[in-house]
Amino acid sequence: MLAIATVVLGLWSLSPVVLRKVITDANGNQVPPGPNLRYMFLQKYPERALRSWAAKYGHLFSIWMGTQLFVVISDPRVARDLLVTNGAVFSSRKRYFMKNQTILTGRAITASEYGEMWRHHRKLAMQLLTPKAIEGYAQSLNYEAHILIRTLIDDGRSGTIPVNPHHYAGRYALNNMLLISFGIRTDNIEDPLIARALHLAMEFMDLTGKQLCWLYSFLPPSDPDSHGCAKLTRCTGPWSNPIDFFEPLQWIPSNMCTRGRKLHQDLIEVYGAMILRVKAKLDAGEFMPDCLVKTLIQDQEKENLDWEDLCMLSAVFTLGGVHSTSGIIQWFLALIPSHTEIAHRAQEELDRVVGHDRLPTAEDEPNLPYVRAIIKEVQRVHAPFWMATPHCTSEDFTYEGQFIPKGTVVVLNCYTLHHNSDRYENPWKFNPDRYLGDELSCVESAKLPDVMERDHWAFGAGRRTSLNHGDS
Ligand code: HEM
Repeated sequence: MLAIATVVLGLWSLSPVVLRKVITDANGNQVPPGPNLRYMFLQKYPERALRSWAAKYGHLFSIWMGTQLFVVISDPRVARDLLVTNGAVFSSRKRYFMKNQTILTGRAITASEYGEMWRHHRKLAMQLLTPKAIEGYAQSLNYEAHILIRTLIDDGRSGTIPVNPHHYAGRYALNNMLLISFGIRTDNIEDPLIARALHLAMEFMDLTGKQLCWLYSFLPPSDPDSHGCAKLTRCTGPWSNPIDFFEPLQWIPSNMCTRGRKLHQDLIEVYGAMILRVKAKLDAGEFMPDCLVKTLIQDQEKENLDWEDLCMLSAVFTLGGVHSTSGIIQWFLALIPSHTEIAHRAQEELDRVVGHDRLPTAEDEPNLPYVRAIIKEVQRVHAPFWMATPHCTSEDFTYEGQFIPKGTVVVLNCYTLHHNSDRYENPWKFNPDRYLGDELSCVESAKLPDVMERDHWAFGAGRRTSLNHGDS
């Protein structure tokens, strides 16, 4: 009897750690339904888990990750009602221990909580991405695109030998972002500062997006690049780090905490050095093209920016644009060879509109509806972030009888949204035709009154949508 009582007591005392907690608002409305167990992290393909939970629990379900409540949105109308219509409540960010507190120290737009600092920094960054500002970069952006195509053709001997596109797409994306952020480009990724900046980007992904990384962080590194992380781990974004969901883990000294703090220092050092290069040019009266860092330096006092703001803003701005755009290009290159009919139709359009004497430029885009449709379709079938970047609620909210408390992490389930057969006929098929006749940019599409007509959700939704959204 005593043994049974002990087991029951033991199980009961463990229940707050392993079982979901029932929370209600003053009217008894409960949080959206979801799995009964709490999770430490999600498995290798979290987007698949979210899809099967959405099928089981509905368009708005909840899941406990350790002590943190998550709510997952899998329906266009719910996404609009919560993230757009009620953006004042659904636009903050959780203070993720590793990414937002330790590495980015609550700055750099993406990590900032919803409020004055975020508004202010986002406004500053957006100045660099107005249609007029983009026009100013057009020549350089076209140049980078031409280099990308030329080197792929040359190094692949006109398609006769295989090339790994990773390096080419990475250089293209990096140069575009270096141009917008620092007014520079590089042909040489061995440049010590650039090489370090790229290394820091990998470290950032490793620390903030890899499943099991925290567990492995107690092991000695098996080789200098692995940092003790399992080679087979996979980027699972906001679901990866138990350290983010169990506060006591944050108090235990670990290799991961040390690496997070070091990465913060390294970002300040490397991006700080790149900012000082721009400053030296400005001080010497040399020509400096318009770029983020020039604006930040010139307006530093007026805008009340400290050194850490400058470093973090330029770092995240640069890094945010590299993995996302190079990922899209690589998926395009992976898809096109196995869809020859689509490739031929695109080629026919390019031959007809652009001809054989020059390469296409951004100005040709409105006359290339099939090429535009391909781009949107790649963004739909291979959005770089299947869970966007999670938002967080800044107040209690009750939606259609379901309670969403303040501090809940809110995830846009893009994988499920992008494979919704009510919206996309035959959603698993790569079929650019579905976008023929859609002449809207992603920004315009996001404003359509009928949300079921929206092109896709790859750039997020509501007030925190991606900064390059306007250029898409
Ligand atoms: C294919 C390319 C890109 C994709 C798919 C993409 C996707 C996203 C997504 C899903 C978010 C989160 C939105 C949300 O919270 O609802 C985001 C945020 C952000 N993106 Fe992008 N992005 C891309 C390119 C870029 C580029 C080129 C830049 C820089 C010029 C950039 C800068 C940012 C920044 C700073 C944020 C944080 C915004 C905030 O919290 O207010 N992104 N992006």
